[in-house]
Amino acid sequence: MRTVQPLAKHDRAAKEDILDFARSVSTGLQAIPRTLQSRFLYDARGSMLFEQITRQPEYYLTRTEASVLAASARAIRESSGAATLVELGSGNSEKTDHLLRAWLSRDTNVTYVPIDVCRSALAKAERSIVLRHPAVQVQTMNMDYRQAFKAFPALSPALVLFLGSSIGNFDEEGLPSFLQELHDSMGPGDFLLGGFDLVKSPRVIEAAYNDTAGVTARFTLNLFDRMNRELGSGIQLDRVQHSAKYLADRERVEIDAVFTATQNVTIKPLGETHTIHQGERIRTEICRKFRIETLLPFLESVGFRARRIFTDKQQWFAVILLQKEG
Ligand SMILES: C[S@@+](CC[C@H](N)C(=O)[O-])C[C@H]1O[C@@H](n2cnc3c(N)ncnc32)[C@H](O)[C@@H]1O
Repeated sequence: MRTVQPLAKHDRAAKEDILDFARSVSTGLQAIPRTLQSRFLYDARGSMLFEQITRQPEYYLTRTEASVLAASARAIRESSGAATLVELGSGNSEKTDHLLRAWLSRDTNVTYVPIDVCRSALAKAERSIVLRHPAVQVQTMNMDYRQAFKAFPALSPALVLFLGSSIGNFDEEGLPSFLQELHDSMGPGDFLLGGFDLVKSPRVIEAAYNDTAGVTARFTLNLFDRMNRELGSGIQLDRVQHSAKYLADRERVEIDAVFTATQNVTIKPLGETHTIHQGERIRTEICRKFRIETLLPFLESVGFRARRIFTDKQQWFAVILLQKEG
């Protein structure tokens, strides 16, 4: 009995995950423009591909943010002081190491709570942190950001990390309510450390999402491969192309999958089929770029006051320490 129950529970959770994916794809394919939620890019293979993206020469974001964190970790620790680090969309947690080391140099009692929808990325990150820093108490949360917010009051006082410019994946309509929910779930005086990719040469930005090795293209196509595997979608992947364009007027990269031939996309768990015509685009991700001078008033309007701003020499990436007022 004891061994059967957890398995049944696991199976039910896996089925629920697939249904959640199916419903989201169904809604997204009927939207105008057709849009898939970017969180589904990160299954085990997607996270592995994202890790490869971060090592591409064109992808300046990760190495620039890592260099800023390396240089500022102690100052961040001194300004925030919380013993619990909570990370939204933690991925491989590699950059967090700079902060954990700074925290451990002062404290032996450090708790790290990585939150990520990708179970495999979370498990891998946990193994590596436990090996490198046995003194850190790791409490993983395999769930969506918003689900995790419910646990935040109990984690306060905390420093919440939102790195990698993941905040740029929210559009102008979605970001204020997301940040408001995050703000409201944090304790008074809690800190938020955000990583923001800044506006720069369009050529540099566009190259980052069109690496010559084609890893970002594989990352985009993996979402459709995942649909084939989990939803029986029957998509011919050689007739789908990655497209990433920087729109300077909107200060954002738009990543689409372009169908080069008309195809029927099936969502088996829901018994639906959608026809995507030749030349049609399906949006898979947006990556907004920020300007500090407009970002700070916006963050303040949500209730976050900037305490410290750290950037690299070229001012390509900003790491901003914010505090919830009150
Ligand atoms: C752009 S990667 C950044 C990873 C890491 N923070 C970094 O800076 O390299 C985004 C991460 O957030 C996770 N993620 C995306 N959407 C999510 C959501 N709605 N809830 C929880 N995690 C999410 C992904 O699985 C992925 O690991």
